[in-house]
Amino acid sequence: MKSVLEKTRDPLWQRTMAVRIDFNNMLSPVIGREEGLDPDALFGMQKRIDEVDAMIRNRSGKGSEFLGFMDLPYKGEEELDRIQKTADHLAAMSDIHVILGIGGSYLGSRAVIEALLPTYRNETDRTKRHERPRIYFEGNNMDPDAFSALMDLLPKKKPANLAETFSLNVVSKSGGTVETAVAFRFFHKLAKEVYGNDYAKYVVATTDASKGKLRAIADVEGFETYVIPDDVGGRYSVLTPVGLLPSAVAGVNIYGLIAGARYMAERCKDTDLKKNPAYMLAALNHLSYTKGKNVSIMASWCKALEFFGFWHDQLCAESLGKDEMGRVPLTSVNTRDLHARGQEIQDGPRNTVVTNLVVENFNHEVVVPRVDTDLDGLNYLAGKTLGEMQIKAMAGTCYAYARDGRPSMNVLIPELNAFTLGQLFYLFELSIVAEGYLMGINPLDQPGVEAYKKFMFGNLGRADMNKYKEEFDARPKGSSDYLVG
Ligand code: PA5
Repeated sequence: MKSVLEKTRDPLWQRTMAVRIDFNNMLSPVIGREEGLDPDALFGMQKRIDEVDAMIRNRSGKGSEFLGFMDLPYKGEEELDRIQKTADHLAAMSDIHVILGIGGSYLGSRAVIEALLPTYRNETDRTKRHERPRIYFEGNNMDPDAFSALMDLLPKKKPANLAETFSLNVVSKSGGTVETAVAFRFFHKLAKEVYGNDYAKYVVATTDASKGKLRAIADVEGFETYVIPDDVGGRYSVLTPVGLLPSAVAGVNIYGLIAGARYMAERCKDTDLKKNPAYMLAALNHLSYTKGKNVSIMASWCKALEFFGFWHDQLCAESLGKDEMGRVPLTSVNTRDLHARGQEIQDGPRNTVVTNLVVENFNHEVVVPRVDTDLDGLNYLAGKTLGEMQIKAMAGTCYAYARDGRPSMNVLIPELNAFTLGQLFYLFELSIVAEGYLMGINPLDQPGVEAYKKFMFGNLGRADMNKYKEEFDARPKGSSDYLVG
């Protein structure tokens, strides 16, 4: 771990790993005046960006009590060391690690693990996993089939060997989110049954410092706990123990993640749009939105970043979808989804901006073989790598968009590692806050999420939600005339 850490401190290495944004294909000189952004208008946003930056730095904008995510890259290594120690301990004593959490308490850690660790790691043996456990996520739904499938993998009696041993990390800031809390009831009970008096050693809780039911349970049971800071909202919490502990258990270099976030945070201290990738992204997305581009496709050109896209979906939708405004974020993986969404992006309504996530150097070189018979006619590709084919496909796709006035931009990622991923998290978090302030909304709250909960809890019989049950029961009823089949 430490050698990677040293490398992340080297300014030369850092520069080679800098995430950059190529926005040529957003601009009128490249894709035409009708659909492209006027460069003068874009750079003319500098004054507004400076105002937004002042709101962020002075913490005077709406929701600024939740801007604590900006401090996370500077917190020092003490907590990271503690997280690493707990993670190593959990990894040594279990071969199945279950993480319970939903929304901001789930998407970030899964994004990290899927981005940085081998796709099929759960299927490999423990040596190939560098002695780290298999990782499973639950408590993010109420789907009984998926739930049972995971339960079936877990032991029902004291494990006979390490391969059967499971540990648990329950993550909930409020400590009361029903999906997570109900799942925890089952896993908590199972841990007691399986481990007897020792069960508390196998459970970690990540929650509020003092409030909430999970905090109360953890204190009574004596679980090790980690705290989600008050000033960090769920979807901005990936660089707190919420995202870091699961990542460290799986074997990710969390020091590298934080170093990457800090590198991006430093770059973003300069408000100049030509130098600040977060503010440039905010300006591009905001101007495009005002021109009617209300659908944002995050197109990852590697499978590993698909869950990063889902993390971003939440960040964007929950932060900006307010006051009847906000662009709709969607994730796709290319070239896979060119065979699905591709048609609509190329030929459908002109309301879409594509943000490509482009990994410039893959970890593996897979060369297409020559076959003497050439029955499939693919020998023209022999000797080329899949990575080269991917890059050519991306360039061709962007040109096909551009020649038809369809805007796209590329987030260029020199290679996928903890340092570049840390940059990406901070980049998009800061950018979304800036965009929210450009829109005049609070990008740090989520009042709309409460609506479904009132009626769900009312229908489930929670006493304090009875009035919502009454309202639900009195709702205008549909008619069987409008049911077919
Ligand atoms: O971004 C958010 O605030 C939400 O997505 C929450 O993270 C999610 O609802 C889970 O909440 P909690 O961590 O309180 O269980």
